[in-house]
Amino acid sequence: MIVEIRPNVHYVGVMDWDRRLFDSLIPLPEGTSYNSYIVRGSEKTALIDTVEPLKLHEFLVNLEALGVDKIDYIITNHTEQDHSGSIQAMLLRNPEAKVVTNPKCVELSKDHLGIDEEKFIVIGDGETLSLGDKTLEFIIAPWVHWPETQFTYLKEDRILFSCDFLGSHIATTRVLADDISGFRASAKRYFAEIMMPFRNNVLKHLDRLKDYDIDIVGPSHGPVHMNPAQIIEAYREWSSDEVKNEVLMPWVSMHGSTEKMVRHLTDHLVARGIHVKPYNLVVTDLGEIAMALVDAATLVIAASTVLVGPHPAAVNAAYLANALRPKTRFLGVIGSYGWGSRIVETLAGMTGNLKVDMLPTVIVKGYPDAEALKALEDLADEILKKHSEANLIS
Ligand code: FEO
Repeated sequence: MIVEIRPNVHYVGVMDWDRRLFDSLIPLPEGTSYNSYIVRGSEKTALIDTVEPLKLHEFLVNLEALGVDKIDYIITNHTEQDHSGSIQAMLLRNPEAKVVTNPKCVELSKDHLGIDEEKFIVIGDGETLSLGDKTLEFIIAPWVHWPETQFTYLKEDRILFSCDFLGSHIATTRVLADDISGFRASAKRYFAEIMMPFRNNVLKHLDRLKDYDIDIVGPSHGPVHMNPAQIIEAYREWSSDEVKNEVLMPWVSMHGSTEKMVRHLTDHLVARGIHVKPYNLVVTDLGEIAMALVDAATLVIAASTVLVGPHPAAVNAAYLANALRPKTRFLGVIGSYGWGSRIVETLAGMTGNLKVDMLPTVIVKGYPDAEALKALEDLADEILKKHSEANLIS
């Protein structure tokens, strides 16, 4: 797709309408895009990031249709192949072009893409590259989400090319977005899956960007933000330590015992004014779990027992929660078993990254009886107490 953003600044990225899984892990219910930008100065032309190699043909068609016959610089903001995987192909077509990036990205680009050392121009934080009447400034921004990530700022047009940062997995013909309301959920899903483990760095880099006048943000996935204050404000909210009066309850049940516990606990939490997201792991995509982890004060994992351990679906959810390092404050484990269970020990042992207070656990042999149901009501009381002490209930 070709879209003019500013005179001599064009979007030349590619939509991937049909892709439904990223990294063989992340569901993409709305597809995605691989964003690339052409900046034509009075003397030189720069390409900012490339596209997923499977989309190379469409990408080349875009460049040809725009009349880009020579690229002097290929700016690579990030080594991951959905943005850098077509650099070698671009170098074949533009043998004089140089790849411009920071030292860490040079190292990773050699490892992952086999680009020769002499092809690089190595830049440092705050350095600039003149294209004639346009100037690119490089902002090294490690760990959102790889160690080599950087942003590129086009000074004269006040455009920040932010790579994965501030992006969204969505394919859309509305490339230039004045308002994020139409894709806020996609942006939040993206934040949850990609940026949440680095939320302290997110805040740090957002603070640093205050020094720049930014009219437009061009990320490497999803729409271009023509009113970037909205996405920046959303990132501040999602990255903050603030949690909501919510319980996320991913659950899996084999014969209905754990499901009965989930329903009972949910009802009693709701009766106490607490919002609950009870997600059946058999039918819920992991992105929904990740999104809920952005806000929920409490995580309760509810699992059946399989051969003494937690059901593998619960293991998967616990692993995900631990890896994403959400700001969740309280953790509970409930579940059932046939003849023996160590699910509490296993799930608690898998969630060491979470800085949480453990809630009382409720583990039941067989179908929950009156005593078990009372224990769940007591757990609801305890969650209410924790949320009240944290001033989450008005
Ligand atoms: Fe979109 Fe980290 O690659």
